[in-house]
Amino acid sequence: MSIRLRLLLSFTAVLAVAIILFMTTSYLISVAITGDMRSISSFYSIHYSLHPLTDEEETIFLDLKYLAKQDPDSLTDDKLLAEYDRKLKMVKAGLVVRHDGEVSYTSPSLGESAMGDYLPPYDAANNAIRSTLNVGNRFFSYAKFDFPFQNGKAGSIYVLRERSPFPELVRTLLPILVLVLLAIMLLTGLLLYRNVTKTIIRPLDVLRRSAEQIKEGDLQFKLEPQSRDEIGQLSLTFEQMRQKLNESIQLQLQYEDNRKQLISNISHDLKTPITTIKGYVEGIRDGLADSPEKLDKYVGTIYAKVTDMGRLVDELLLYSKLDLRREPYSFERVDLAAFIEDAVEESGFELEEQGIRVTLEGERLQDTDVMADRQKLRRVLGNLIQNSVKFMDKPDRSITLRLREEGRATLVVEVTDNGAGIADEALPHIFERFYRAEASRNSRTGGSGLGLAIAKQIIEGHGGTIEAESQLGAGTTMRIRLRKADVGAVASGATQRETGDEA
Ligand SMILES: Nc1ncnc2c1ncn2[C@@H]1O[C@H](COP(=O)(O)OP(=O)(O)OP(=O)(O)O)[C@@H](O)[C@H]1O
Ligand SMILES: [Mg+2]
Repeated sequence: MSIRLRLLLSFTAVLAVAIILFMTTSYLISVAITGDMRSISSFYSIHYSLHPLTDEEETIFLDLKYLAKQDPDSLTDDKLLAEYDRKLKMVKAGLVVRHDGEVSYTSPSLGESAMGDYLPPYDAANNAIRSTLNVGNRFFSYAKFDFPFQNGKAGSIYVLRERSPFPELVRTLLPILVLVLLAIMLLTGLLLYRNVTKTIIRPLDVLRRSAEQIKEGDLQFKLEPQSRDEIGQLSLTFEQMRQKLNESIQLQLQYEDNRKQLISNISHDLKTPITTIKGYVEGIRDGLADSPEKLDKYVGTIYAKVTDMGRLVDELLLYSKLDLRREPYSFERVDLAAFIEDAVEESGFELEEQGIRVTLEGERLQDTDVMADRQKLRRVLGNLIQNSVKFMDKPDRSITLRLREEGRATLVVEVTDNGAGIADEALPHIFERFYRAEASRNSRTGGSGLGLAIAKQIIEGHGGTIEAESQLGAGTTMRIRLRKADVGAVASGATQRETGDEA
């Protein structure tokens, strides 16, 4: 059953119950007040039959009754009657005297000439002294006394009090009242139904449509929650789910893109040397290398290209192993200051021959132990220096290494050169695999673009970070941050990796 139908049914049920309750309560109230299982319409008559007159009126009535018993004929005296009438008028009642079936006196205040037609008949036994009567549209409660005049003719005195036409009004208005009540209830129900439709059904409809959109694969919309109730919260959660889903799909697409790019890059980087090798081999086969010098040159080129390819495949293999976390690390305590001094000494000699100055700056620090994989860290440092050498474009070429402390726990290694620098738009990408800024310059320098990607993997494997700061034309600083061995040692990620590899 749909919520819409269920709500409709429950509203109808509420309406029915309300009406039944209303009816039952009315009936029960009337029974409780009258003590009688009679219809509600007789409620007012019964009440007024029991209490037709006020206390003052009752006293006057008793006076008249006494008079009727003791001296009935005095009740033909209009003067006396007028006197009583005056008293009654003061308490808002009236007097009627009937003499032998004819009305002989009527209070002018009652203002009714044909009263006699409506009065109850003579009853010598005086069974019903107090009751109510309708005179045309008017409603009276009365007390009466029937008595014989001295000549034996039937006489009656009535003390009447006009009652508000309310009971009558109720009697005629009741159907209208009930109709109005029904209308009000219906209207309330309708408004309630509309409200519910607006606050529940419509938002649910929106949600359903959104879910369908997602099912169709469309995630590029926004769901605004309209309220803060349960449905609103549901909408909010739904919107968050959509965002997460969208993000993960975008990420997936990007991964897919990266993968394609990677394959394309590898193919390209392998294809180029292969084409060259093929060309040279064909040249040898066709007898183009007709002199030993030429042959030597051809073979030399082929050898260089094969070496290049071998290096690329090696780097690729290493990168993929690092990426898959299959490359084991062998961490040991390394004095970073001494390690850098060694590195500078080692490469300094070779580089000086090429006219590149390598200097180590800064004071010698104490307490510079880190947990590191010597070989891998050497590789990273070597790659940074190699890059600096490769992208050097100034006659006065210099590379500066610096080790400093940052806080109590971190050591920072900086490799600064005064080379070509890296453009701002390229800077965020240089740690991506196969990324090489400025194709023209790089085609001259060679390289696969894997160096910094591998360096980043290795440094992160040490629980450290690597970043680049550069100004195009002025130079580049590569910055590595590593935690000191004595403060928390190697990051947990690296430790896990190490133990994982051993397993
Ligand atoms: N010191 C530097 N000065 C200027 N550009 C740099 C420097 N270091 C890196 N780059 C830029 O970042 C790119 C990525 O460097 P990365 O070491 O990953 O690749 P590569 O040196 O081109 O190739 P590989 O290191 O695999 O031989 C380089 O191609 C170069 O454009
Ligand atoms: Mg490099």
